[in-house]
Amino acid sequence: MVHIYYDSRTGNVQRFINKVTQITGWEAYKISPELEAKEPGHLVTFTTNFGQIPEATEEFLDRASNMIYSVSSSGNMNWGQNYAVAADKISEELDIPIAFKFELSGTMEDINKFIDIIKNNHYDSKRRSEELDIA
Ligand SMILES: Cc1cc2nc3c(=O)[nH]c(=O)nc-3n(C[C@H](O)[C@H](O)[C@H](O)COP(=O)(O)O)c2cc1C
Repeated sequence: MVHIYYDSRTGNVQRFINKVTQITGWEAYKISPELEAKEPGHLVTFTTNFGQIPEATEEFLDRASNMIYSVSSSGNMNWGQNYAVAADKISEELDIPIAFKFELSGTMEDINKFIDIIKNNHYDSKRRSEELDIA
């Protein structure tokens, strides 16, 4: 079973996740201060305030980053260089591979791409172990 932890403030990520879970039957958990990550899974969040990671996502990662296989971010291309950069920041800070970026609640094509990437581990899943080998 695939487990997904997600953050959503205005509902876009929520709508994206609703479609993903309808299609796949995967388990999704909305991030809240009380949420504990009991199973390893994937993080889907959004980008806020000029390229920032949402606060609830940061707090969740403080306690659960070791349970996260990949990070994805919703964003809006109107933000130019800051488009969905929460994923890049989380990836750099915590060495978690990026799975996917999408606009707002995503198109059907985005949803199918995301499912495909997660199902087939088409993110850089070896990144952590490669870096450890070099170190
Ligand atoms: C105040 C504010 C700041 C935002 N800043 C960014 C940003 O820097 N980069 C980006 O790609 N999207 C930005 N967005 C767009 C959101 O990431 C996008 O709407 C996302 O789908 C929100 O997810 P949610 O509806 O699940 O909360 C911003 C939106 C708001 C309201």
